Amino acid sequence: MPTIAHISDLHFGKEDPPVAEALLADLGARAPRLVAVSGDLTQRARAREFRAARAFLDNLPGAVLVVPGNHDVPLWDVVSRFARPLHNYRRYLTPELAPFFHQEDLAVMGVNTARSWTFKNGRISWAQIEQIRDRFAPLPERVFKVLVTHHPFIPSPGDPDPAVVGRGFHALQAAEAAGVDLLLAGHLHLGFSGDVRAHHLSIRRSMLVAQAGTAISLRTRDEPNTYNWITFEPPHLTIEVRGWGGGAFATLSMTRWSSTAGNGRRSRPDRLSHFDWRPTRVRSRL
Ligand SMILES: [Fe+2]
Ligand SMILES: [Fe+2]
Repeated sequence: MPTIAHISDLHFGKEDPPVAEALLADLGARAPRLVAVSGDLTQRARAREFRAARAFLDNLPGAVLVVPGNHDVPLWDVVSRFARPLHNYRRYLTPELAPFFHQEDLAVMGVNTARSWTFKNGRISWAQIEQIRDRFAPLPERVFKVLVTHHPFIPSPGDPDPAVVGRGFHALQAAEAAGVDLLLAGHLHLGFSGDVRAHHLSIRRSMLVAQAGTAISLRTRDEPNTYNWITFEPPHLTIEVRGWGGGAFATLSMTRWSSTAGNGRRSRPDRLSHFDWRPTRVRSRL
């Protein structure tokens, strides 16, 4: 059964050390198959911040997949920002900017959406869109396919400044054709989940989105530090929001999505809407 811990926006340099320690303890006790880190590992892309992020990643349990965020590109050092924007990220964290994890029934791909010329907003290139197709399309239908970016594909509820990723619609079309099931992102420092079809009427395949809040940084927005604990047990997918409660992480809400089409069985690979997600049970303390 695939279990993914989805953490985001760590912002080392503005992190809260007791929260970071508690998160490591929580993840260590839960032992996910994969920890997906959706960007903004540092506050200002400084070497010492990346070294702290490296030490944190080294203490995570199991496999780790990480993508950069806009804060991992230098802001004030304009030469570095344009000449070697992800130099420190690649030096201290990983040289891989299109990480791919495939183990049995789980395949996860990371896409770098951070760009030098726009500090806040992100973008996906045509080459990256092609890569999404190449990675996922050949995999069998039974494999649960997850795409990880820093910038979101859908806006947060009620946000006047959606800040969704540039060229995101084209990437969604590729993800739909390649059979992607779930999209993980951060950047907004707000946790929520939904279906992309609610925002893109021409997308027919049901693809879920899980946005993670900030896991350990002091840059919270009206909600505590949180991360997503995701469990996929066909035909159910559960997104559990684990939040900092002042002493430890605890479950704040749980949303269970169930596939209704085909009784949860995936049949013909060319049938785009075969996996039709519906929320069946919601428990919340947020
Ligand atoms: Fe952030
Ligand atoms: Fe960000």
